[in-house]
Amino acid sequence: MFLEDCKVLENYKVGEDYYLMKIESEKASQYSKAGQFFMLKLKNEIRILRRPISLHNVDKDKNILEFYYEVKGGGTQEFATLEVGEILNIQGPLGTGFTTEVKNKKCVVVGGGMGIAPTKLLIDELKKENEVIFVAGGRGKEALNILENLNLDGVKTYITTDDGSLGEKGNVISVLSRVLSDEKIDMVQTCGPHKMMEAVAETSLKADVFCEVSLEERMACGVKACVGCSIKTLDGMKKVCHDGPVFDSKIIVD
Ligand code: FES
Repeated sequence: MFLEDCKVLENYKVGEDYYLMKIESEKASQYSKAGQFFMLKLKNEIRILRRPISLHNVDKDKNILEFYYEVKGGGTQEFATLEVGEILNIQGPLGTGFTTEVKNKKCVVVGGGMGIAPTKLLIDELKKENEVIFVAGGRGKEALNILENLNLDGVKTYITTDDGSLGEKGNVISVLSRVLSDEKIDMVQTCGPHKMMEAVAETSLKADVFCEVSLEERMACGVKACVGCSIKTLDGMKKVCHDGPVFDSKIIVD
């Protein structure tokens, strides 16, 4: 875990209230994995807390970290005002990410809305040695503009939107059910709204397929120093910021 001052290289609106920010990071970029997150410091010192933002992508050769984030309050609004060349202090990488050290598996990645953020790096890492199927869902077309930033060559991709403006009208669960009944899948990994992930976990469980979920509990400190992110699991209480955010769905109690 590093504390690093990073230069903002790009920071632009992708659609609706969604932004993509690229920063230069010599240290943290070398150790970052899919599913981990960073605590980003705000410029306004009155806002003491950092904000947890999940990692979207990393370019280890060019020392670049990318964050896809949604503006939904004063803190993230401030990130959207960061200009190219400004310095952003980051803390990370933090948490335990997705399982990617697998070979010759058939993996399904399910991303919903902002939960698509960590799927770029996850898919890039998985597809080196595995077959990957991607199911992406969003409210509408604009919420899925970020898909243009993903490299989906060789990835069988299904898209759903609530309003039918892109892909199939409906949600990711019906597509996942179809995929799980048509193909022999080894692993499902998901990030998205809580209810969606619950349904993904339940559907995977019924099909007897291992499933990992990335929990988006509200985090305060991000470094195991408070109790803000504790959850109940079959292995006892766990902290989402440290033991997760990615968990085997089977151990989560509620
Ligand atoms: Fe403080 Fe996890 S956010 S312990």
